[in-house]
Amino acid sequence: GLGDLQGVIDRVGYLELLGVDGVWLSPIMRSPGADHGYDVSDPRDVDPLFGDVETLRRLVETLHAARMVLIMDLVPNHTSVEHPWFAAAVDAGPGSPERERYFFRDGLGEDGSLPPNNWPSVFGGPAWTRVTEHDGTPGQWYLHLFAPEQPDLDWSHPDVGADLDETLRFWLDLGVDGFRIDVAHGLAKPDDLADLPDDVEIAQLVVDERDARWDRPGVHDVHRRIRAVVDEYPGAATFGEVWVGPVDRFARYLRPDELHFAFHFALTGAPFEAGAVREAVDSTLEASRIAGSTPTWALSNHDVVREVTRYGNGALGTARARAMLLVELALPGIAFIYNGAELGLPSDFSIPHDRLTDPTWERSGHAETGRDHCRVPIPWEGTRPPYGFSTADHTWLPMPTSWGRHTVEAQIEDPGSTLSLYRAAIETRRSWPGPRTASVEWYGAPSGCLAFRRDDGVVCALNTSVRSVPLPHGEVLLSSGPLTPETPTGAILPPDTAVWLRPH
Ligand code: GLC
Repeated sequence: GLGDLQGVIDRVGYLELLGVDGVWLSPIMRSPGADHGYDVSDPRDVDPLFGDVETLRRLVETLHAARMVLIMDLVPNHTSVEHPWFAAAVDAGPGSPERERYFFRDGLGEDGSLPPNNWPSVFGGPAWTRVTEHDGTPGQWYLHLFAPEQPDLDWSHPDVGADLDETLRFWLDLGVDGFRIDVAHGLAKPDDLADLPDDVEIAQLVVDERDARWDRPGVHDVHRRIRAVVDEYPGAATFGEVWVGPVDRFARYLRPDELHFAFHFALTGAPFEAGAVREAVDSTLEASRIAGSTPTWALSNHDVVREVTRYGNGALGTARARAMLLVELALPGIAFIYNGAELGLPSDFSIPHDRLTDPTWERSGHAETGRDHCRVPIPWEGTRPPYGFSTADHTWLPMPTSWGRHTVEAQIEDPGSTLSLYRAAIETRRSWPGPRTASVEWYGAPSGCLAFRRDDGVVCALNTSVRSVPLPHGEVLLSSGPLTPETPTGAILPPDTAVWLRPH
């Protein structure tokens, strides 16, 4: 009921049918699973829940045979509390060299019962947890920007970088094609670990430079180090998770000796509104221009509300998500699709509270349900959970009883399905020569609409307004929904629809 690497191998045929060029796997290294594998206890082994290193090797071979790449998720900002280094650090006590690989500090206040600074954890509550020392007394505190089970590593300690080098080589030697680097804008912490100003703006997409938990100058040394190792393997690449808003700061991560690519989350966060979409596209393109790099695009991932739900749910959300797919796939650069988006899956906010697994739920005092809504397994076939995902009835997150219409089986032969649109869009995109530059030419468009042209001539037009508008002239290559009814003056682009055209 959890999914495993053999299961992925068994479904490589589906990925070929979908037409994708590669797969990014969320972490599969050994982990007690406090944050869905983002708490790693052994970075150079596969968790037995998912298989073993041999099975991963077979997955890599199977993907390569199908001309696809495999990108692994790498978690350099923190370890699990079950990593031997952390266990040794707790054991060795205050002042020990073992504690220097993490951020252990004395607490404030007379008895040290207050956290060393005011930093919040991303998952709620303070970013510090107090350990109990050998003699049973309350001891030092350690830093964790995420859950308490994810202690932050101190990247100024030489062991930390040396160990990551080894991890990179381990997986690259096995044949993986690159890494998605978790929290790539974290990693470096200021020496003084000073309090954040009271009025600092705390946001997932970091916009306030005074939020010293992120985007410190030292982070770039880490990326240079990673790059040096990855460059020993021709063709391998890194994709950084960089939640940094200002484009000039974001672009620094993409300097020639740092990350190959990075996720700029502007499009992911943009509402379904032409002006906002255009602004998001422009900012990501601007970052690429500054850095001279190739942009990447994503409408969703495992941390955010699925696009169908974000854009309005039901038929409306689905129509908009389909339209935005055409926008995403027309943009120059690398497009990421989050599994299940191709089936038009919504986020599932009906998961019973006692089945929630995201640490956010407990850490927020049950104020936020967390990200489980977008992580429900995808439905393959049949009319009842678990829809062929597992031979067990129980899946790690329950699957909604209403997902029979979302299965691959229900959609694969239906030309009007979202899965068919994805396949057609990917196939069409693959048939193009591809843009030579990471830029687009914007056309004037009616209010609530946008239209842009790639340098290979393909035009994409999107209507986010409530009225139909005249369709730009040209040969229609693909549309996200019906372009009817035609008016006496010609074809129209209805609301919540996008189209690809080749101008006459
Ligand atoms: C990244 C991951 C997220 C994880 C966090 C801590 O943001 O995408 O899923 O919880 O890092 O590792």
